[in-house]
Amino acid sequence: MRRVAIMVAIVALSAIVASGVIAASRSSDEAALEPTRGAPDRNIERKVDALLRKMTLEEKLQQIQLLSDGQVTDDDARKGVGGVFSLVDPQRINELQHIAVEQSRLHIPILFAYDTIHGYRTIFPIPLGTASSFDPDVAFKDAEIGARESATVGLKQIYSPMVDVSHEPRWGRIAEGGGEDPYLGSAMAAARVKGAQGRDYSASNKVVTSPKHLAAYGQPEGGRDYNTTDMSEQRLRNLYLPPFKAAIDAGADTSMCSFNAINGVPGCANRHIESEILKKEWGFDGFIESDYTAVAELRACPPQRPAEGSCGHGVAADGPDAAALALNAGTDSEMVSTNIRDFGRELLGQRRISMQRIDDAVRRILRVKFRAGLFEHPYVDVAKAQNEASFLTPADRAAARRGAARSMVLLKNAGGTLPLDPKKKTAVIGPLGDSGHDMLGPWWGRGRDEDAVTVFDGVAAQSPGATFAEGCDLPNTEPAAYDPAQDCPSISGIDAAIAGADQIVLALGEPREMSGEAASRSVLDLPGKQEDLIAAAKASGKPFVVVLFNGRPLALEDVAPQSPAILEAWFGGVEAGNAVADVVFGKVNPGGKLPVSFPQRLGQVPIYYNHEPTGRPCDATQKYNSRYRDLPTCAPLYEFGYGLSYTSFEVSNLQLSSSRVSRHGSVRASVDVRNTGSREGDEVVQLYIHDPVASISQPVRRLRGFERVTLKPGEKRTVTFTLDASDFGFYDNTGRFVVEPGRIDVYAGNSSSATLTKPLTVTG
Ligand code: NOJ
Repeated sequence: MRRVAIMVAIVALSAIVASGVIAASRSSDEAALEPTRGAPDRNIERKVDALLRKMTLEEKLQQIQLLSDGQVTDDDARKGVGGVFSLVDPQRINELQHIAVEQSRLHIPILFAYDTIHGYRTIFPIPLGTASSFDPDVAFKDAEIGARESATVGLKQIYSPMVDVSHEPRWGRIAEGGGEDPYLGSAMAAARVKGAQGRDYSASNKVVTSPKHLAAYGQPEGGRDYNTTDMSEQRLRNLYLPPFKAAIDAGADTSMCSFNAINGVPGCANRHIESEILKKEWGFDGFIESDYTAVAELRACPPQRPAEGSCGHGVAADGPDAAALALNAGTDSEMVSTNIRDFGRELLGQRRISMQRIDDAVRRILRVKFRAGLFEHPYVDVAKAQNEASFLTPADRAAARRGAARSMVLLKNAGGTLPLDPKKKTAVIGPLGDSGHDMLGPWWGRGRDEDAVTVFDGVAAQSPGATFAEGCDLPNTEPAAYDPAQDCPSISGIDAAIAGADQIVLALGEPREMSGEAASRSVLDLPGKQEDLIAAAKASGKPFVVVLFNGRPLALEDVAPQSPAILEAWFGGVEAGNAVADVVFGKVNPGGKLPVSFPQRLGQVPIYYNHEPTGRPCDATQKYNSRYRDLPTCAPLYEFGYGLSYTSFEVSNLQLSSSRVSRHGSVRASVDVRNTGSREGDEVVQLYIHDPVASISQPVRRLRGFERVTLKPGEKRTVTFTLDASDFGFYDNTGRFVVEPGRIDVYAGNSSSATLTKPLTVTG
């Protein structure tokens, strides 16, 4: 019945698209999938209960244990360890699985997991890049291919999607998520879950997903990874939790609790978030694994911190204390550290944990294993897994190339510098111009540097005779060895390349090691003397474009005025170089938009479009208001939702189907978008709202709809969005969702600075 309804909706949607009116913001692949979450399967529940009844305490505690590839032994498999992560050798996976299934007393298979974040072997752009596409299909495809390749080697769970909303560009992990907005982040999160899990993750090409890191890990103080977070309830629920909810509603059956403390309570000891919100309020019946040693980190460090051993939060005195805290809060599985397994029996004897809670954790783990089909199909086809043809297929490469091109954001294009003419002589210059390594970004999975198409490869393939000069080096150093003085210390060897060229592509940015876990930065500038490369290109008088590769918003205050054209390419993955060439030479007209604000300078951080107003709104001409004395504006350099195209668009005629709506009703907003230029191109039509008078101060704008459309020159389309209570309402500080009567201002346009507006009244 439900399926029929969905099919009818799809047919109706195609009919509407054909007539030039489209309903936003759904992905077509996504729309074809029913959510996988439903009533628990009775058959599975019976099997889980039967198994649970046979299990000894020791076997239950083993199920709760999750070990890394470096830790696990044959003996762990024999004793019935629950999960293993980061092991990707299919032969060893099978070996351990055979031991678990054939030699453990109850024959329970192991769940093998991996961090497939933006690809396993076919590496897509970093998720911050994918979010820039404003096209959930790109995220869907990334997850779909990543799941298939992961499943091929015997993995059945991925620690993805990373759905942490973040306003912190200093934080290296901003690269892994969908940016600063909960609505966009939710769309990307749901698409990733559906892409990876499909309708049924027991299928041989599917895996169960694990949205992470629960919760508010994206807001570490000072931008330092793992650092503490102080968060009001309304902010937690309005800004940080929505992508988790979207992922769970899309069917995600596992989740990972976070390292950081939220209001003094670490993620893996946070009963409010793990048990009250995720499990009780949202009805999540899967399991939560801890992050890496996060249970051990609940302990206080001894005065002389041991060289080895995780500790620090100081909410637990010792291992048993940490185990009890984590388990009682709702953590079901412990990664790497072994406190629940080691101290479970003792804690039970002391009544500090209950058998009921242990059973609940184990039941959740077994339920996921049954749903994953592991009991029926525990083994991997090693021959297929060892066959190179199973990975990085031409079709998957094509999807990665398309995804990378759709993820690029044109930040500046003075005088129509771009597209460049491929028939002219092109010089690629810069430390990232011939690097496959960096294109793969911070979670490269099993991606190989040599698989990646570099910018020079891609440019040379389309502009024969192109030349390359590195200019300076950005070493790929890990944090411990990192010395900022080694980053592009001076430039050299570029004169001949510049002299021989008609046009220049500057490939600048950050090495990939500057993004991802434990890679926070205290500055947001281009590392080293890369700006000297811009000065040299400018001095030549030749047309040039700065193509940026980075995992965070950069502060481009000095770069922008010096550069006629800037293309934000993020870390574009295995096809990055081809995709850059596609855009730079105009085969693809860029249509991405920023999913995160780019500050003018670091001191503005945190800066985000969906901030609350103040009693002294920024006005640079007055003294006593919320501004910087040394900046003429409070605006970012490039705002959320911003991005240019080689053509131009006009967004007009915002209409509401009614000027009044009851709090239980809905209203349609429609807006026209016209291609006013002379090339086909993509525009992202965006719908925002603002609630000007509310019981708690509301963000100046909140994205509530978007649609990326492709239009031929002169073509016009009407895009419609539906707004209802889920849009007008918000969570208050008691955690209640409230819809307050009154005026809502609806805005439409092509960035968060949209000014086209219509008032709407929500009646009681
Ligand atoms: C630590 C990271 O925080 C998490 O994202 C990842 O999934 C685990 N390590 C396992 O690799």
